[in-house]
Amino acid sequence: MKTDVLPIDNPIRMHAAVQKAVALLDQGAVIALPTETVYGLAADAMNTDAVKSIYAIKGRPATNPLIVHVAGRSMLAGCVPSWPEVAERFLRAFWPGPLTLVLPKAAGISSQITAGLDSVALRWPLHPFMQRVIETLGRPVAAPSANLANQLSPTSAAQVLAQLKGRIPLIVDGGSASVGIESTVLDLCGEYPVVLRPGMIHLESLRAVDPNTMPRQATQGDGPGASAEAACKSPGLHQKHYAPSAPMRVIRWNASESLARFPARFHANAHKTCVLCHEHLPDPACFLRVSVIPSDPEAYARALYAELYACDRLQPELILVESVPDTHPWDGIRDRLYRASSA
Ligand code: TXA
Ligand code: MG
Repeated sequence: MKTDVLPIDNPIRMHAAVQKAVALLDQGAVIALPTETVYGLAADAMNTDAVKSIYAIKGRPATNPLIVHVAGRSMLAGCVPSWPEVAERFLRAFWPGPLTLVLPKAAGISSQITAGLDSVALRWPLHPFMQRVIETLGRPVAAPSANLANQLSPTSAAQVLAQLKGRIPLIVDGGSASVGIESTVLDLCGEYPVVLRPGMIHLESLRAVDPNTMPRQATQGDGPGASAEAACKSPGLHQKHYAPSAPMRVIRWNASESLARFPARFHANAHKTCVLCHEHLPDPACFLRVSVIPSDPEAYARALYAELYACDRLQPELILVESVPDTHPWDGIRDRLYRASSA
């Protein structure tokens, strides 16, 4: 299959790309579209065969449900039987934006989307192109991140092309994603809101809307100690997610002398080691590549996946990442670094 890449860098191209994307979605095709978090692999949420194709193209396990993307309140009625007051408060504070809300699903949402769960994950994305496509289609769009299963989420059209060329007919190039990591997923099905996947809308911001919001429990996901119930509740939170191909370790160092000792400890050559740092900058001559990422969380998130992709292309023996602060604004980033570094 030939994969077209369409830019949207002026109003005429934007309009043409919206028309093309909507026509393809309407025919049941699966295409890659930009969102503000990461690129999405989109299909008409009301077309069961198209939704099934998403799983086939990604190689995604059928047990991992998809996010349904809406544009505007009018689409919510088809997705959920009722819109609770707590959801309305989160909507007002953060939508459109990088927050996904999990609620009991309406009958019209297929079990293909929800992987058999009785809840549905909803997001109203901020990216103007994605909004226009959903509005013009007139139906919600199901979309996971536009990567092959267990690989890094793409934050640029080039990264999508590298993974999905020949598998989909269209990639819309909306530039670099402005948020850079996947949305925060917040479960609103229980007594109080629970963060299932941390993201750039972090616990302190969520608690400003509902002070009872809880962080993800240590036992959730399927890391060590995960309970079967928790793994079921957050089916996509497999530990080995969001990973580059090369082994990666997150460590703390002070001076470049101490950093130089680490590659050998992990059976790697320093000259075949990539380093991602934000505070303590080592001598670049000692390593294959040294990426310096700004040390505020928004800028760091925006740069992280692009840097990991760039490192991966060099086929290093090891990627060393300087650990990041232990505060809530960094929760989403720490989560992705932890997952990318778990073997
Ligand atoms: O930023 C994002 O969320 C991007 C863009 C494209 O919107 N999408 C994304 O989708 O990251 P994906 O499929 O890679 O991750 C969706 C996450 C998974 O962890 C999945 O398990 C969880 O949302 N999820 C979806 N439906 C759920 C549900 N009903 N209950 C609990 N978790 C759910
Ligand atoms: Mg994903």
